Amino acid sequence: MHFQGKSFLTISDFNKKEVEYLIDFAIHLKQLKKNNIPHQYLKGQNIALLFEKSSTRTRAAFTVAANDLGASPEFLGSGDIQLGKKESVADTAKILGSMFDGLEYRGQSQAVVEELAEHSGVPVWNGLTDASHPTQMIGDFMTIKEEFGTFDGLKLVYSGDGRNNVANSLLVTAAILGIDVTIAAPGSLSPEDAYVTLAQEYAKKSGSAVEITSDIKAAVKDANVLYTDVWVSMGEEEHFEERVNTLLPYQVNKTLLSEVSENFIFMHCLPAFHDTNTEYGKNVAEEFGIEEMEVTSEVFEADYAKQFEQGENRMHSIKAIMAATNGSLFIPDLN
Ligand code: CP
Ligand code: NVA
Repeated sequence: MHFQGKSFLTISDFNKKEVEYLIDFAIHLKQLKKNNIPHQYLKGQNIALLFEKSSTRTRAAFTVAANDLGASPEFLGSGDIQLGKKESVADTAKILGSMFDGLEYRGQSQAVVEELAEHSGVPVWNGLTDASHPTQMIGDFMTIKEEFGTFDGLKLVYSGDGRNNVANSLLVTAAILGIDVTIAAPGSLSPEDAYVTLAQEYAKKSGSAVEITSDIKAAVKDANVLYTDVWVSMGEEEHFEERVNTLLPYQVNKTLLSEVSENFIFMHCLPAFHDTNTEYGKNVAEEFGIEEMEVTSEVFEADYAKQFEQGENRMHSIKAIMAATNGSLFIPDLN
């Protein structure tokens, strides 16, 4: 396994063993944190957090993880710096890389996060682009491992927008780890061929099954994990009406879940739209006459719903990613 100095731009940057290690390392660091045992893998470092899109979990997770690891995080929002405006991505990368020990980037373009990694000379971690959300995957599959104790024999079903960053990353990560994966989405939102082909290549090696279908009712019957995400990702607001109309049959509600197996959890990366308690919710309710979108409150509040465990695990897993790729201490042998 080789982590030191590496960036994390897509889940494919690491092989099966390395992804498994990051998950186990995150579980280990969670125990250290719970027992107040110091773990200052990044002591004295400075970490830049570049955000061109909003964030609650990712920003909070990188900030707390950096502090716990002994590093100083610095938030650089899109209104604060010149990235891609008055200064090229490459020039910004060179400057930030000369001062900081690692960079997180959240924005639209996968090409930008790759350019930052090419020119900065320090590890770059992808905090979400339109194409992928790799750090989310380590926290999510950590949550699955905590819940089931193993990945063997599991089936993950994703319902909803099959072309977004989370769906792309789930499809590929499950295939790397040998988990059966089904993306249930309407034809117009089914995954791009490139992700399906990549997942199939991994699945051949890991022995998992990859399925793309529009039949959510059939897919959900033997699911151990049912995952959904917002119908309208950040930056896609112009498609709102079309998404609501197309994705309503993919809503995760009690009727859909009436036939799921005993061994079952619901997952959502968050933020979720599940009621009209927010200003956003009230506007949607008024305009489209629906009070819930991708998941109902009844499901969201059930015991099998693990979205808040996932949320907490973002912090432990991001800590594992930063410590493994940029730590000055040896990472433990967890076998
Ligand atoms: N899941 C996730 O990335 O949440 P934020 O957008 O709040 O960071
Ligand atoms: N697909 C969502 C994920 C948010 C964490 C978005 O990009 O807005």
